[in-house]
Order: sequence, then C-alpha cells, then structure tokens
Amino acid sequence: MSDAHLLPAEFAGLDLLATMVVVARADGECLFANAAFENGMRLSRRTVQKAQLPDWFDDAQRLTETLAGVAANHYSSSRFDALLRRGAWAHEDGLPVHVIVSQMDAGEDGEPRVLVELIEIAQQARQDRDERSLDQVQATKELTRNLAHEIKNPLGGIRGAAQLLALELQDGNPELNEYTQVIVHEVDRLQSLVDRLLAPHRKAQVVGDVNIHEICERVRSLVLIEHQNSNGGLRIQRDYDTSLPDFRGDREQLIQMVLNIVQNAAQALGSRIAAGDARITLRTRVARQVTIGKQRWRLALELHIEDNGPGVPAEIRDRIFFPLVSGREGGSGLGLTLAQTIAQQHQGMIDCESEPGLTNFRITIPLP
Ligand SMILES: Nc1ncnc2c1ncn2[C@@H]1O[C@H](COP(=O)(O)OP(=O)(O)OP(=O)(O)O)[C@@H](O)[C@H]1O
Ligand SMILES: [Mg+2]
Repeated sequence: MSDAHLLPAEFAGLDLLATMVVVARADGECLFANAAFENGMRLSRRTVQKAQLPDWFDDAQRLTETLAGVAANHYSSSRFDALLRRGAWAHEDGLPVHVIVSQMDAGEDGEPRVLVELIEIAQQARQDRDERSLDQVQATKELTRNLAHEIKNPLGGIRGAAQLLALELQDGNPELNEYTQVIVHEVDRLQSLVDRLLAPHRKAQVVGDVNIHEICERVRSLVLIEHQNSNGGLRIQRDYDTSLPDFRGDREQLIQMVLNIVQNAAQALGSRIAAGDARITLRTRVARQVTIGKQRWRLALELHIEDNGPGVPAEIRDRIFFPLVSGREGGSGLGLTLAQTIAQQHQGMIDCESEPGLTNFRITIPLP
C-alpha cells in the first residue's frame, strides 16, 4: 500500500477536525481515518487502515448493518449511540460515542463509500469543564496575587517593630522577649509563603531549546537521590517516545514543573515505598490536533506522570490546581499551582485523572 493511498488528498482536510472521522467501504474496511481518530484509538494510521471498522465496536453487527444500509441507499444517513472498544485501552470500559453514518460519493473505483463520524459523548462535557476550570484558575490566581501583595507590604513594618520592641525589652523583661521572637518567626514564615505565592509571576523567562527527556532524566535522578535510603522501594520507569523534537522553553522552570508533580507522586507513595512496590512512570507521547484552552495546535507533546499510589483525595480532586489547596500534612498547596502556571507560560496545560492505584498527571505542550 503506497503512502499516497494512505492519505488521499481529498481527505486531507478531515485531519483538521477535532471529531473522529472514518471513511469506510460498505463492507466496513477503513479507507481513511483522520488524526483525531488515530489519537482517540491510540493507533497508527497504518494499523487503522488495514482494519475493519466494526471490529472496534462493542456491537459490531449494528455498525455493519448500518454501513451496508447507507451504502445501498436504503437511507441517506443514520445516527445511533455506541461503545468503542479502544485499541490500546480495550481492557477498559470502552468509549461511549455518538455515531453518524452518511453517504459519500463513490471512490475512483466506483465502489460506494460511507462517512462515519464518531462524537465522544464525554468530550463535549470535558472540554466545557476544562475551559471553565482554566477561567477559574485565572481568577483565583489574580485574587491570590493581589492578596499576597497586600499582606506583604506591612510585614516588613511588623518585623522591624518587633525587633525594636525586643531591644527595648532586653534589660528589664527577658521572658517578654520570647513573644517578640514568636512575632518575628511567624512574620518570616508568612513572608516566605507570600514570596512563593508571588514567585511564578516575577521570574523572567529564559527561553532556549529544550528536550523533554533531558528534563525528565534530571527530575528522575533528583527524586531518586532524595529516596536513596528507601532501599529501592521507589522505582521510576521511563517510557519515552524519542522521536519527539526539542521545543522552545525555559529549562529551569520546566524542570521545576515536572519536579513538583513527581515529588507529589513520591509523597503520595509513602506507604508503598515502605512496602517496596512504589512505581512512578514517566511517559512521553506525540499528540495531534489538540485543543488547549480555546486554541488548537497541530502537534503537541504529552508527558504523563503516573503513580500507583492511593490517588488524589476525592474532596480536593476538583481544586488541586488552585493555590493553597493541599491534602497533605505540612503541604502549602502551591506546587501544582506553580506547575500549571509554568505549563501555561509554554501555551500548555496540565490535567489529572486519579483513582486509587492509578493517578495520571498529563502535561501537554504544543510543538512548533
Ligand atoms: N500523585 C498524587 N497522588 C495523590 N495525591 C496527590 C498527588 N499529587 C497531588 N496530590 C494532592 O494534591 C495536593 C496539592 O498538591 P500541591 O503540590 O499543589 O501542594 P502540596 O504538595 O500539598 O504542597 P507543596 O506546595 O509543598 O507542593 C497534595 O497535597 C495532595 O493531596
Ligand atoms: Mg506538592
């Protein structure tokens, strides 16, 4: 099969669609599948094209009959809901889709062809949710920044006054000195919190060519060094797609972003590290035609950071990217906020899916 056959020019435009589209023969053989379909199924174009479309469906019979019916002109189009058994994810529950089968002009060989559109039923809901949560994060960030500034201003004054007071008290009243020490100590703590709240917006970006795998390797060794006393209880596996190109970005900030997420995973894995079967996986992949916020990109890289820990606590799952949201003793709840800010500064985003035993943070960054 030649490459010209793999991507007939008349179908090229379909690659731009966010909806999964397949052109098939009446007997179900795939002639063309667009990029959205490949992504959705996690399959290469070649594999998809040799396949029988109905094989991917839970109820193959229904699709086979519909394809034949539409191709034979019994009806011009047909719609129904179905369950896709996704290639790589066949072991999962499948993907609910709305299927629209329509007639097309016959191919050059005169064979009837049909156009099959597959609309992910959850996709629309998820896209709405992502957009809403990006807006919310933006609003919260502004509020936090303004608040942090307001808190920061008087802190210097309070600290100075407490020190003056300490000097005055030195001779007569040593035990009162303890109080002034508490004031100074607490002011310093607030100061460092406020500094961290303001930090991501202060630093200028240093942009250069960066390689995602070099970043992953750095983070991997940093975290492994931190856990070197755990007797190998923590494993950090790599699953890299080395064909990913370099991209423009701020290397130090990107290391910080990945480090914050991997550290969270390592912290969540505490008891599994003790038990010796803690696992974090760093997985890189190419994604095509992705939507980030309101913008569409032809190509992006995905870095998945997976762990087999207990999962993000359900009560904070929707809010983990907001500042000061923490489910961890001693956590300040800033790690993910900072990571999300850094991703956004690279036109990207981070999202998370989590259940007990499998948590996946996905970083998506557009590629040139
Ligand atoms: N991989 C994970 N598994 C389980 N829970 C997680 C994971 N990653 C994040 N969380 C939850 O999300 C919360 C927020 O994470 P975030 O990094 O923003 O703050 P933090 O870790 O509490 O504090 P810090 O500012 O020190 O990073 C964590 O406290 C934790 O409850
Ligand atoms: Mg953290």
